[in-house]
Amino acid sequence: MARPAEELKRGYDVDENAVRFSNYFHVLREVVHLSNGWLPLAADFDVKYMLGDHLHDDARSISKVRRRLYELRHPSEYPGAPGDELVALLDRMEAAASVDEYFAVAYGEAKPLLVEAFRIHLERLDPVSDEPSLRLLRQLLARQERHIEEYAVRGSQFAEQGTSGIDELGALEIRLKAEPRPLRVMAPLEAPARDGFVEVTEEGDPFLRDELYVNDPELNHVPIEPDEQRHFFHGLMDAELTAAELMARNSHEHPEMPWDFHVDMARQTWDEMRHARVHGVLMPTELGCRWGDYPVTFSYFKSIYAHDLLGRLALFNSTSEQRAMWRHSRRREVLTERGQEKVAMVFDYLLADEVPHVHNGVRWGTYLLDGDEAAYRSKVRELRESLDETGTPREGAPAA
Ligand SMILES: [Fe+2]
Ligand SMILES: [Fe+2]
Repeated sequence: MARPAEELKRGYDVDENAVRFSNYFHVLREVVHLSNGWLPLAADFDVKYMLGDHLHDDARSISKVRRRLYELRHPSEYPGAPGDELVALLDRMEAAASVDEYFAVAYGEAKPLLVEAFRIHLERLDPVSDEPSLRLLRQLLARQERHIEEYAVRGSQFAEQGTSGIDELGALEIRLKAEPRPLRVMAPLEAPARDGFVEVTEEGDPFLRDELYVNDPELNHVPIEPDEQRHFFHGLMDAELTAAELMARNSHEHPEMPWDFHVDMARQTWDEMRHARVHGVLMPTELGCRWGDYPVTFSYFKSIYAHDLLGRLALFNSTSEQRAMWRHSRRREVLTERGQEKVAMVFDYLLADEVPHVHNGVRWGTYLLDGDEAAYRSKVRELRESLDETGTPREGAPAA
């Protein structure tokens, strides 16, 4: 097989290349960290969804950038510490006092700088000797372009393009001998935010009865009447938002955890946001109601959020989600029998996604207990004793 001989472009040397990837790494790492912190405080559903979707993309991008750094700087993947110019940008992004301010820096400055740097990088690299970078950068570029485009559409109310003063992100200095830059953790949440038209009360929707959430086959009630299905799916959408918010804050509040933990949390955050979106679509198209028709409560969120990471994993992933699996499969069966195929299918997917979510509990709970899975299981049993028969803290409201 003879290919026409083409001269090599030469492109960047290996060190320059690694410096560029290190700069991308630092920006993406703080964007993921801060998007996780802000997600619960974004009130608008579309904006919250966008954050969940994009932070998952960015977390996966970081894994790939780390891998490329490992290849280029073998055997170290250490990205060094950002230089002064980048620190100034990261400091401003970190100092945002509202979701809008965060968007202005993250989407108005940091992401456009990434796009610009990826384009320059792609333009100059040698496509033969550095083909691994070429493939990776094409993917990274497509992702960031999509993010900026969606931000321009959905987040137009705060679409403000800032001027970072940085000419070329990829070429900024990296301090290889310096300690890693610490990630600042935001103040603990008082409560998450919902769309302005959603009423938040202490009690939530009084229509949601305990029988919907018990795992006892004799007592569990699958909602089949149109009116009860409307309330039920509305409550489910809010429960999905709660789940996304808890996972996002687990990641944000624990920068000391291994990188894979953050990737798992990012995936689950996006999954839960997708679940919320599914219910949000199902309500007007199949059930005759919409998001915001009934009140919601933050009491369940608060009861889980009050725990440390181990407690949250034990009570949410290993208990609430684990028990919801049984109910989802039962709901699916009953609704299929009744001919509500589309609604039933939703539970099929919720159930499939729940398996890795439950696994996140065991995986990271065990990690927190020095690899002792038996100790984690006993922690789960101990914490479950504080729950009522719907699987929620005695004073809380049901989850899903
Ligand atoms: Fe979910
Ligand atoms: Fe889940």
